[in-house]
Amino acid sequence: MFAKFATRQFSSTASSAYKVSILGAAGGIGQPLSLLMKLNHKVTKLSLYDLRLGAGVATDISHIPTNSVVKGYGPEDNGLSKALEGADVVLIPAGVPRKPGMTRDDLFNTNASIVRDLAKACADHCPNAAICVISNPVNSTVPIVAEVLKSKNVYNPKKLFGVTTLDVLRASRFLSEVAGTNPVHEHVTVVGGHSGITIVPLISQTNHKNLPKETYDALVHRIQFGGDEVVQAKGGAGSATLSMAQAGARFASAVLDGLAGEKDVVEPAFVDSPLFKNEGVEFFSSKVTLGVDGIKHIHGLGELTNAEQEMINTAKETLVKNIEKGVNFVKQNP
Ligand code: NAD
Ligand code: LMR
Repeated sequence: MFAKFATRQFSSTASSAYKVSILGAAGGIGQPLSLLMKLNHKVTKLSLYDLRLGAGVATDISHIPTNSVVKGYGPEDNGLSKALEGADVVLIPAGVPRKPGMTRDDLFNTNASIVRDLAKACADHCPNAAICVISNPVNSTVPIVAEVLKSKNVYNPKKLFGVTTLDVLRASRFLSEVAGTNPVHEHVTVVGGHSGITIVPLISQTNHKNLPKETYDALVHRIQFGGDEVVQAKGGAGSATLSMAQAGARFASAVLDGLAGEKDVVEPAFVDSPLFKNEGVEFFSSKVTLGVDGIKHIHGLGELTNAEQEMINTAKETLVKNIEKGVNFVKQNP
């Protein structure tokens, strides 16, 4: 399914020692994400890159006694290439966050070129790495990374992910609040993309199929616009950082588990997907099984209610535009 763009053959053997690089490591997400990756025992080398404070954050985190070497880098002295050299997994939270009144798409003008340039560096210095994009708007930044990698003939669709795990975390938490259950036991598949109406929680696939309509509608709306809750609450000082760090660390941990050959590692992610390609939707989030070469299997959506089907139809219309915007950006600004 990926033959068209898999212009280089990549294959990996399982290991238990990995280099993880975080680009934007000194930011609101970057710092706690760096901390959580320092606590992951599969990580033996942790590279922290930022335009500012990369070395400071690295020195701080390096005092934690886990079995990894932490190094920090800034843009001077080829810091970015050193940070990326030999990376197995790259996490990208670099970019500006929203303020109240903004949509994620409003971040495009600033973040598109940041992500494009970091993708170029990944192509040059760690073409075999799994790249996990956190920077918004994810629906467009992931296609940007794909276009850059294609232009450099190193695109491996099995190793490019838009991180949508925060939607999954929120869905578990918010569902447990209305159902009166323990969120630890609530597993909600969230599909589509990562912005407003493109976020589609599949509540019918949980144990709570028969929520009253008003409760269901309010729950879906809260999951779709959970990011706005945090943006409002922070009053102009940024968006979700701590919950996102937890989400990013969970997703990175799943990618590492897959690379290490562990069985049945499944997380939803926004990926180059066959599910709706025939309708022009090149990227879509659904459950993905992770393996030694990145994506092992992209799951279908399963049985859906009419309401879920309608949400997916609406999501697809927006996704096509968001994806096209990312692709065109790289074509016009290579
Ligand atoms: P932040 O401003 O606190 O941190 C961003 C960091 O990126 C800063 O330290 C900055 O110096 C750095 N940076 C900027 N340009 C860079 C470059 N070219 N190279 C390296 N580093 C660079 O922002 P934040 O709150 O950490 O959010 C970061 C991004 O993550 C935003 O775009 C935000 O919208 C997004 N986000 C995504 C999700 C998601 O679910 N995918 C969730 C929350 C936030
Ligand atoms: C989120 O979902 O919290 C992030 O995408 C940040 C935002 O802008 O809402």
